[in-house]
Amino acid sequence: MIKPEDFLNFIKGRRTIRNFQDKIISNKEIEMILEAGRWTPSASNRQPWEFIIIKNKEILKNIAKTGIYGAPLRKAPMGIAIIGKKLENPNWYIQDTSLASMNMMLMAWTLNIGMCWIGSMDREYAKELLGLGKDDFLLTILATGYIKGNIPKPTLRKSLEEITRILK
Ligand SMILES: Cc1cc2nc3c(=O)[nH]c(=O)nc-3n(C[C@H](O)[C@H](O)[C@H](O)COP(=O)(O)O)c2cc1C
Repeated sequence: MIKPEDFLNFIKGRRTIRNFQDKIISNKEIEMILEAGRWTPSASNRQPWEFIIIKNKEILKNIAKTGIYGAPLRKAPMGIAIIGKKLENPNWYIQDTSLASMNMMLMAWTLNIGMCWIGSMDREYAKELLGLGKDDFLLTILATGYIKGNIPKPTLRKSLEEITRILK
């Protein structure tokens, strides 16, 4: 088992990556990231998701253009779209897919693969490009690639005191 301190440091050390090398990610690594998504818990274990590996740079660039903070998608060699299938878990598909995105980001970090969770995009336009339907919820496209340059400095977090209450 992983040591608790090591795991906590691993979580703290992960950073959002917005600059990527122009290098293809191996199928083995892609598969490991997808497996981390597949093994995510979901409400009633419905697994209401689909993951789309986007290797088409034109698609990524076009989607990137539609969001103010979409630039990482333009720079990434690959994107992983996380889709919630609304009809498969109507009350929980957002939570289920959000958890899957975290598992995949953590898995990627073990492989020295950086990711940026992109929320900034015209979702209807992106859904059309990805061939999605009305019952598909496009949670995010994770801009994905090997890290270029230095790992960004740690981002700030609120203190535990600020965000915790203990009821006795
Ligand atoms: C729901 C969500 C939406 C986000 N959308 C974007 C985005 O559109 N563009 C971007 O560059 N980063 C985006 N991020 C990344 C956050 O800015 C980043 O996680 C945050 O600043 C903390 O940095 P860290 O991940 O390095 O700890 C998003 C993150 C989350 C969780």
